[in-house]
Amino acid sequence: MMKKRILTWLKPTGEQLHLGNLFGAIRPFVELTKQEKEADFFLFLANMHGLTVIHDATTLRNYSLTILKLYKALGVDTSRVYIYNPADIPGHAQLNWVLTCLTIMGTMERMHSYKDALAKGKAGEVSVGTFCYPILMASDILLYDANLVPVGKDQKQHVEYARDIAGKFNRQFGETFVLPEPFIPEGSATIIGLDGRKMSKSYNNYIGLLDDEKTLLKKVKQISTDMKTVEEPKNPDENHVYNIVKFFLTPEEDVALREKFLAGGYSYKEAKDYAFEKMWAYLKPLQERYYSISDAEIIDLLEKNAKVVGALAEQKMREVYKKVGLAL
Ligand code: ADP
Ligand code: TRP
Repeated sequence: MMKKRILTWLKPTGEQLHLGNLFGAIRPFVELTKQEKEADFFLFLANMHGLTVIHDATTLRNYSLTILKLYKALGVDTSRVYIYNPADIPGHAQLNWVLTCLTIMGTMERMHSYKDALAKGKAGEVSVGTFCYPILMASDILLYDANLVPVGKDQKQHVEYARDIAGKFNRQFGETFVLPEPFIPEGSATIIGLDGRKMSKSYNNYIGLLDDEKTLLKKVKQISTDMKTVEEPKNPDENHVYNIVKFFLTPEEDVALREKFLAGGYSYKEAKDYAFEKMWAYLKPLQERYYSISDAEIIDLLEKNAKVVGALAEQKMREVYKKVGLAL
């Protein structure tokens, strides 16, 4: 029997990643690779999707290399996880066209990505690529017969479309694609930002994985707090300093910090000094690993993996082209 295939992506849409990305997406992915010892993992760079919004070569390339290096520095096991660039593999664009011809406009009009633009009155301004991007996403998935696609709620509809179009193709042209399933990792926490809202690039309230020591210190000082005096007991769960630093603590340290807050006599200033120390102890070695990885090392890895996964894609495309009558 074929091994289970789990497919996920990394998105080159910013200068760096933040703690929300780390604890909300990357950590759960690394955990999944440890739990699913028998599965094959496909982790691809969503740069072809990035092109829907980024129209500057240097920016797209730099964002791509940064995110790839960060994943490596964060300990993604590159001997078990295929990290690759879909632009190296013609099958993504080829399957995209075949599925584009089988998808009706109405289906794309119902997708969140387009409906969001419609709601903002921007429907006429988004690129055709943005309108059709669930089709490219379906191609990314179906090309490799992926069974499971871990996604956040926002992407569930797109994986369902991938499943529907795979079913439609199979009925019309004969059994070809595995039907993928979205997998929403349970209880994945939302990490809050400096102002107590969800940590996000777009709110500029984040702590970046590549923030240097000075920037980190400045940001920790900015974490918003209430007006409680030093003496007053503080509920750790309602306290932004605790809610950020807790991800860096051992269970014992967590218990000890909660007790300090609850007992009173522990100031936000002391808590912030402690939070800074804990975060920097984590981020410093991460950044050292990150800066030791060269562009060439990453490009080598992508080229090596493109050969392996590219062979799977090529085989699948031969089958598809034959079934639809494009291969003569
Ligand atoms: P941003 O909101 O900064 O633009 P992205 O949309 O690029 O972040 O998110 C990339 C991944 O990181 C997604 O899987 C998303 O669920 C996760 N993520 C982003 N922010 C958070 C957060 N504050 N808490 C938990 N997970 C997050
Ligand atoms: N659409 C996803 C996002 O915006 C990225 C993505 C592209 C993707 N291709 C995919 C996700 C295939 C899962 C599977 O975040």
